Amino acid sequence: MSVVVTPRLILRPLSPSDADAYVAMRFHPGVAQWLPASAGDPLKRVQATIAAFADDWRTRGYAPWGAFERVALGGDVAREGRLVGHVGLRFLPEFDGTEVLYAFLPDLHGKGYAREAAAASLDFGFDVVGVPSILAITLETNVRSWGLMQRLGMTRGPDGHYKGLDVVRYDIDVASWRARRS
Ligand SMILES: CC(C)(COP(=O)(O)OP(=O)(O)OC[C@H]1O[C@@H](n2cnc3c(N)ncnc32)[C@H](O)[C@@H]1OP(=O)(O)O)[C@@H](O)C(=O)NCCC(=O)NCCS
Repeated sequence: MSVVVTPRLILRPLSPSDADAYVAMRFHPGVAQWLPASAGDPLKRVQATIAAFADDWRTRGYAPWGAFERVALGGDVAREGRLVGHVGLRFLPEFDGTEVLYAFLPDLHGKGYAREAAAASLDFGFDVVGVPSILAITLETNVRSWGLMQRLGMTRGPDGHYKGLDVVRYDIDVASWRARRS
């Protein structure tokens, strides 16, 4: 399981002890309104999600990370702060491809954190995992989400359906990402 450090974030696989903090992020009204409805006890749901992500880390070599604030302690030394989001890659059977997903607590919106973390996810997917292309989906009304897809250089593909919802789809391939990065 991989850990990635960006200028302002530490991205690491979630563990069972993160469950309460993950509930607070995933079920914050400003986050949950944009994600597929999740029935049942939130704690049990995120415990199942954390377990499913751990399975994917073992079997696929990638899964979403928890995004933690990187708290500077001076020099290059930093410690992990609060859990502020999730971000990373997940295989989507419905699209037969690998998606980049992201969600952050509202107090971090509009500060570039999601872009920083999503860019690190694309680097990881193309350079470490070696997937040829990555997709992203969202509701057409989620302007901030597809705006981020565009800011990453992703291009709009055919619309689709996911968990009973109409979604817009964006894609990027390894050559386009590398050209954009250089
Ligand atoms: C979707 C989501 C992750 C997008 O987050 P975001 O903060 O808008 O995206 P970015 O990280 O690209 O930030 C962009 C903004 O930060 C600003 N910014 C400030 N400092 C910045 C920096 N250092 N680097 C880059 N941008 C910076 C940009 O100017 C831009 O501002 P604007 O919104 O006024 O145009 C966020 O809205 C979210 O978590 N929503 C709830 C969950 C969700 O919808 N998830 C997606 C489901 S498909």
